[in-house]
Amino acid sequence: MTRSDASRVLRLHAAAANLSDHVEPWSRTSDLRSRLSAAPFLMAPMAGVSDAAYRTMARSGGAALAYTEMVSVAGMHYGSLKTWELVDPCDAEPDIAVQLFGRDVGQFREAVIGVQERLRDRLALIDVNMACPVPKVTRKGEGSALLADPDQAAAIIRACTEEADVPVTCKIRLGLTSDAIVAPEFASRMEDAGASAVAVHGRTRSQLYHGASDRSAIAEVVSAVGIPVIASGDAMDEKACVDILHETGAAAVFVARGSYGDPWVFSRALDRLSGREVVPPTTADRLGAFECHVRLLDATGGRMARARSLAGWYLKGLPRAGAMRDAAMRCLTLDDYLDLLDGIRSSLEGDL
Ligand SMILES: Cc1cc2nc3c(=O)[nH]c(=O)nc-3n(C[C@H](O)[C@H](O)[C@H](O)COP(=O)(O)O)c2cc1C
Repeated sequence: MTRSDASRVLRLHAAAANLSDHVEPWSRTSDLRSRLSAAPFLMAPMAGVSDAAYRTMARSGGAALAYTEMVSVAGMHYGSLKTWELVDPCDAEPDIAVQLFGRDVGQFREAVIGVQERLRDRLALIDVNMACPVPKVTRKGEGSALLADPDQAAAIIRACTEEADVPVTCKIRLGLTSDAIVAPEFASRMEDAGASAVAVHGRTRSQLYHGASDRSAIAEVVSAVGIPVIASGDAMDEKACVDILHETGAAAVFVARGSYGDPWVFSRALDRLSGREVVPPTTADRLGAFECHVRLLDATGGRMARARSLAGWYLKGLPRAGAMRDAAMRCLTLDDYLDLLDGIRSSLEGDL
């Protein structure tokens, strides 16, 4: 298989998973706020997770837009092929959002020019990561460290907007610690610098992923800025997605961990928001989605090792899930996973 086979995989295997067999482009006909309000559930950037296969699954499950993982502008500057490949959409993706991280204004400028040249009309927007709490990143003054340096952060946004033909946004946390919440003021600075939207993860850097995401703190950012806010944190199912939208007043919601093994969460959230009946996936849907996802991973040249996590996520809660996950640990190739799925389907035949 080559990278050009993802559309074919989707066409052949999405129906068995109750997913759409193609991905709708993100509308470019209206302004950002109207686009977000028409389709407010987006797949969040996730390092080590949001590769082309994952993004394609999320979008065929109803995500309005899906983001790359955070991509280093320094890596791009030094010409790392692996880094550049992170921003390549597969053929099934009409467009993607690219998230960049770094600190050097010149490197951001170069990266925006390079990403635009590489993706052309398949680039939906550029997001700047000001949220990552990992010490390897913050030690260099990147990611959430920028929350303590609004002048540098504003200079980065200004440089990106000067070069970009698409909206430039940023993703922040509430602050570094709970006694230093800066998000409303910081977001307002980024708006002044030219950001078209701001995504807010309702935790501080020191919280990492502990504790609940603070919806009222996100609402304070919504009140402080005129640009759309994308709320992030604890969007674990369709109820949470809709509650977050209503309680924060945000224009959109990022779904991150809530999409693990559940690409339908986006369309269920849309159904709930519109008052339509919400239908959970069946066991057959989940096995179908696992198959579609591993086939996409293979078709897009993704890392097959990621299929082990996928097995844990898609098989969770099924009868004998533990034994199935153990068997998945021994799989290496696409054929190994397809054989595993055959075995699971025959063992569950009566239940499907
Ligand atoms: C495995 C993993 C990787 C992540 N990588 C990124 C990233 O590259 N860029 C980013 O802005 N946020 C990243 N995040 C944060 C998520 O985008 C999101 O803000 C966070 O998980 C809170 O949402 P949730 O509680 O709904 O999962 C990551 C989260 C996880 C779990």
